[in-house]
Amino acid sequence: MAASSPPPRVESLSNPVQQLVINGEQVPENYIHRNTDDGPICASFPVTEIPIIDLGLLTSSSPTGEPELEKLRSALSSWGCFQAINHGMASSFLDKVRAVTKEFFALPMEEKQKYSRTLEDIEGYGNDTVVTEHQTLDWTDRLYLLVRPEDQRKLKLWPENPDTFRDTLNEYTEKLGQLTEIVLKAMAKSLSLDDSCFLDHCREGALMYTRFNLYPVCPRPDVILGLKPHADGSTITFLLQDKEVEGLQVLKDDQWVGVPIIPQALLINLGDQSELASNGIFKSLVHRVVTNSERERISVATFLLPHPDMEIEPANGLVNEQRPRLYKKVKNYVSLYFHNYQRGKRPIVHSKFKFIFLLFFISYGLYRKVIIKSMEF
Ligand code: OGA
Ligand code: NI
Repeated sequence: MAASSPPPRVESLSNPVQQLVINGEQVPENYIHRNTDDGPICASFPVTEIPIIDLGLLTSSSPTGEPELEKLRSALSSWGCFQAINHGMASSFLDKVRAVTKEFFALPMEEKQKYSRTLEDIEGYGNDTVVTEHQTLDWTDRLYLLVRPEDQRKLKLWPENPDTFRDTLNEYTEKLGQLTEIVLKAMAKSLSLDDSCFLDHCREGALMYTRFNLYPVCPRPDVILGLKPHADGSTITFLLQDKEVEGLQVLKDDQWVGVPIIPQALLINLGDQSELASNGIFKSLVHRVVTNSERERISVATFLLPHPDMEIEPANGLVNEQRPRLYKKVKNYVSLYFHNYQRGKRPIVHSKFKFIFLLFFISYGLYRKVIIKSMEF
């Protein structure tokens, strides 16, 4: 999930989930998923191998690079995600990012609330924004911060406690910036496109948001989700998972499967904007988070988004007679995205041909509630 501008109608903020847990209150009704179209909520779905990509090989000019590019193309076309290893960040550094996340959420509520988000803003500490009466809330608290461009950072929302928080986030952002270049170039190469095809979306003025997520212990994991099913509105998303507690599930061939923890890996998933730019060859990953009655879980998600004025459309090289253009041109996709996310819907860009739309719809499964938005080419 990602957004670059405040949701259009924000009605209220609710209490952090941690507060509900501390007070031992009965779970409010609006967290409970009743008769969902998404099938049962079950934490024990099979855990499946997700493709593992060695980022070191992607940049190598030796013949070992070719098969890795092919692996990348296949992972993004069939899964929409991969576990990135050999990404240049030491395991001890990833542990540091996890540690500052845990330390922040373990602070007393008054301390965390110094960084609370306001009604007008998406950045800061808090939980789900309530935009509709019928919204089912996610069992998660988060600290959401814009990290790039640097001159747009709201430092008053950046915790000073733990005292290593800011430096750690700075260094993490720096490293993810380098990875972005490697991954976006490789994505283009794997489709035989010009290296800059995806990278151009994310140069000057591109936005990067990092969201620190806490999924507190939940009394009803059978009917409550940490995050409801969604695909990210980003170009790509970097996810650092908890080292010990699983919870992320992805939809593969209409089945929910658990993502195994590889402590030294970063999960990289494709967002809607790259599905669009690849004319549907790459798939934006549909995923959700289940809760746990015994252990809390943390994760750190970083969303990469084109500048809101940037127009995104299917790459020329991927539109031809065999593969007609599937999507219209979009601008500021995330504002549309966010509006729909809280309503449990997925924005999808109108396809040109009805039959293609139908195929697309069927292949994605009915659980993706598709909204057709007319947008200008
Ligand atoms: C997200 C997300 C997964 C996780 O923040 O959009 O999908 O494991 N997070 O927390
Ligand atoms: Ni997500």
